[in-house]
Amino acid sequence: MEKIIDEKKQGQSLKVNAKEGNSRKLYIESYGCQMNFSDSEIVASILAKEGYNTTQNLEEADLVLVNTCSIRDKAEQTVRKRLEKYNAVKRLNSKMKVGVLGCMAERLKEKFLDEEKIVDMVVGPDAYKDLPNLIKEIESGRDAVNVVLSKDETYGDISPVRLATNGINALVSITRGCDNMCTFCVVPFTRGRERSRDPQSILEEVNDLASKGYKEIMLLGQNVDSYLWYGGGLKKDFKNASEIEKATATSFSNLLALVAEEQPKMRIRFSTSNPQDMTEDVLHTVAKYPNICNYIHLPFQSGNTRILKEMNRQHTREEYMALIDKINEIIPNCGISQDIITGFPTETEEEHQETISLLEYVKFHFGFMFKYSERPGTMAARKLEDDIPEEVKKRRLTEIVDAQRTHSAYRTNQFIGQTVEVLIERESKKSDQHWSGRNEQSLVVVFPKENYKSGDFVMVKINDCTSATLKGIPVGLSDNN
Ligand code: 5AD
Ligand code: SF4
Repeated sequence: MEKIIDEKKQGQSLKVNAKEGNSRKLYIESYGCQMNFSDSEIVASILAKEGYNTTQNLEEADLVLVNTCSIRDKAEQTVRKRLEKYNAVKRLNSKMKVGVLGCMAERLKEKFLDEEKIVDMVVGPDAYKDLPNLIKEIESGRDAVNVVLSKDETYGDISPVRLATNGINALVSITRGCDNMCTFCVVPFTRGRERSRDPQSILEEVNDLASKGYKEIMLLGQNVDSYLWYGGGLKKDFKNASEIEKATATSFSNLLALVAEEQPKMRIRFSTSNPQDMTEDVLHTVAKYPNICNYIHLPFQSGNTRILKEMNRQHTREEYMALIDKINEIIPNCGISQDIITGFPTETEEEHQETISLLEYVKFHFGFMFKYSERPGTMAARKLEDDIPEEVKKRRLTEIVDAQRTHSAYRTNQFIGQTVEVLIERESKKSDQHWSGRNEQSLVVVFPKENYKSGDFVMVKINDCTSATLKGIPVGLSDNN
């Protein structure tokens, strides 16, 4: 499942430390989910070996790559606008080549070349290792396309170049693709079948990040709960092949424990969880290890069981509620966030009210809420008419966002008087006298800088809040430093 990244980061051009001897300039921009941002780091690593250093200056780029998102129509429109901008720049720099990566590339394939004359190269999410060949093609004046999806590519052997990094938080991808086939979702078509990455390569990446001073990692996948790796094992101990596989497999909770034990001082987060695949052992693992954050992003999409069925979600309203009860029982103080789609075809007013009542039941810490956007080729687009008028979608979305804001305020208010551990991530956007970081529940905490520095774990006594931010006073470093 996709997790939408902080809107402000969208489209950020990314800078890498220059590699000596590299003479060509790459300008790379990413849109959409964290997986795209993580993929751009893999692409930058592949291209560093081809002589490219990144630049933040579009005008001087030899190669411009845009990593695109197809999740909603609006995301695609944003990319089209960017292509117009590249076009204007290309008029001044005719040697500049433009490549489209990611989900839109996969969805539109060769059609992209016809629709957008500026585009020289179209590369799907599983074809990035072919970039060196594709670039040779475009350099010799031909267009290049590779949108072949893979059943096993995980890029586990590529050490990502960290882009736009604060040196503190890093993304570590653990699975690619999605097999769930929610009827609204384009992801299974653009990112292909689900596959898991070798746990050894994940541990190596995490160790490398720790040695470079990173303090928090996010284990990433469209659906992390279905992570599964079949390891080796001593055959003589088992009766048959399936027993070997079961006994030696690494599940998501095993992986979490492995990472938590390997780097006990590293803060660990994961995203995205899926209600139908989340198992109780994951909850126990989160509860057991202090360095795994008590925070779960658990999209529910709709609070009505009929709509969930139309969405081909494999959970009911009641099952989702039972899972929330379990989370609260096993992980006290767990931050929980949601994704919701409003205005799915045929959604009635009563069914919309059930989404609001589910929000009331859970009182999420925060959430990501969207109007349904029909995606070509999905089951919903083929079988159901997009019949909820735009004004109705808008009004329902406002009602949902308002309810969520009330709950966010309820949650942030509950922290007043508490002292929480905060990992300092950056300077506050509003004041250069304040740090900004997050607590375990992924709530933003702002506090005076004093003598603390970026990357410190600080205990902060909360004395004020808005619905989105906690404010407080630092009372000392935490034991975790
Ligand atoms: N329309 C609107 N929102 C969508 N999402 C996925 N597909 C669509 C769509 N067609 C939302 C879901 C998902 C999040 C990443 O984006 O809520 O969890
Ligand atoms: Fe997430 Fe469902 Fe889309 Fe998979 S199909 S990415 S589970 S919303």
